[in-house]
Amino acid sequence: MKDTFNDAALFLTHSATGGLEIIATLLDIQPGDEIIVPSFTFVSSANAFVSRGAIPVFIDINPDTLNIDENLIEKAITTKTKAIVAMHYAGHPCDLVKINAICKKHNIYLVEDAAMGFGAMYNNLPLGSWGDFSVISFDITKQINSIQGGLLIVNNKKFVQRVNNVYHLGTNRIEFQQNNVQYYEWVDIGSKYQMNELNAAILFEQLQNAASILLHRKKLSQHYYNRLVHLENTGKIKLVSKKLLSNNIHEFYIILNSFEERETLRIFLSKNKVEALFHYIPLHLSFLGKKIGRYFGGKHTEQISRTILRLPLHSDITEDQVDYITSLIYTYFNDKISS
Ligand SMILES: Cc1ncc(COP(=O)(O)O)c(C=O)c1O
Repeated sequence: MKDTFNDAALFLTHSATGGLEIIATLLDIQPGDEIIVPSFTFVSSANAFVSRGAIPVFIDINPDTLNIDENLIEKAITTKTKAIVAMHYAGHPCDLVKINAICKKHNIYLVEDAAMGFGAMYNNLPLGSWGDFSVISFDITKQINSIQGGLLIVNNKKFVQRVNNVYHLGTNRIEFQQNNVQYYEWVDIGSKYQMNELNAAILFEQLQNAASILLHRKKLSQHYYNRLVHLENTGKIKLVSKKLLSNNIHEFYIILNSFEERETLRIFLSKNKVEALFHYIPLHLSFLGKKIGRYFGGKHTEQISRTILRLPLHSDITEDQVDYITSLIYTYFNDKISS
């Protein structure tokens, strides 16, 4: 991974959540600071900062990418804004050029939540190499996994010294290991963020096979797309846009026309032993989000949350199984796949 992320400082963590918490510590988040985050994301994207007192400022998504709507971000910036969390939904890149320019203009930090983004690229650079800080998740639900685990990427050199201490329980253990001090001691706040060795061994094996795992997922995504495009052309579903397919390695989702249709299709698939899932409950409509956050945008987040359906995509699935799943979807719509 050193090759992938050039001269960034890399830290294997017990989770991407842990990595985000380290970032919140490094940014010295204080009560009342604000953090800009999409509403359509996993709770950790916001919680890591909120747990240190930040106010989450939620932004609607672009319905074509399901990523934060970069055109709404500037309206949400105040003098208290500390960082923008750019979460790459399904590993599809946010508009990092635009978001980076906004960060520079307003002197705020860019955090890439690339939890779903291992192996995906933006402008020929891997996701995770654009932000001041980034995280990748190696949870079992991700394309490359260590059962549980994460990677923290620190690209901003200003934080490299301190991150070592925060990562090592708030001690200067690294300086001790480098023979710069005679013993290590408590020098900062921190916690036990490291990935354990069993998880690291699993990750090592996965990384050795990463190219073939990612290729298999790309092929399956293309196969899903080819099989389902007729339903998109006839207005029954919406698919991920064709130009995003080359990076489609994390999941394969479809968007239905209504909540009722999503639910009846999901239950129909489940009765036929196909587990299709949905997420996220919009953070700005969640119990805590409503209490402490603000929201900028329209109804895209809510609409997508009610109509998205994630079809099975993992290393053990075959093209024949994708044929079976997509045939069920055709049966549901009382339609036939065109050859
Ligand atoms: C967008 C996003 N951020 C953060 C996380 C947290 O990752 P982890 O489970 O490794 O803590 C997830 C997990 O699914 C996620 O989807």
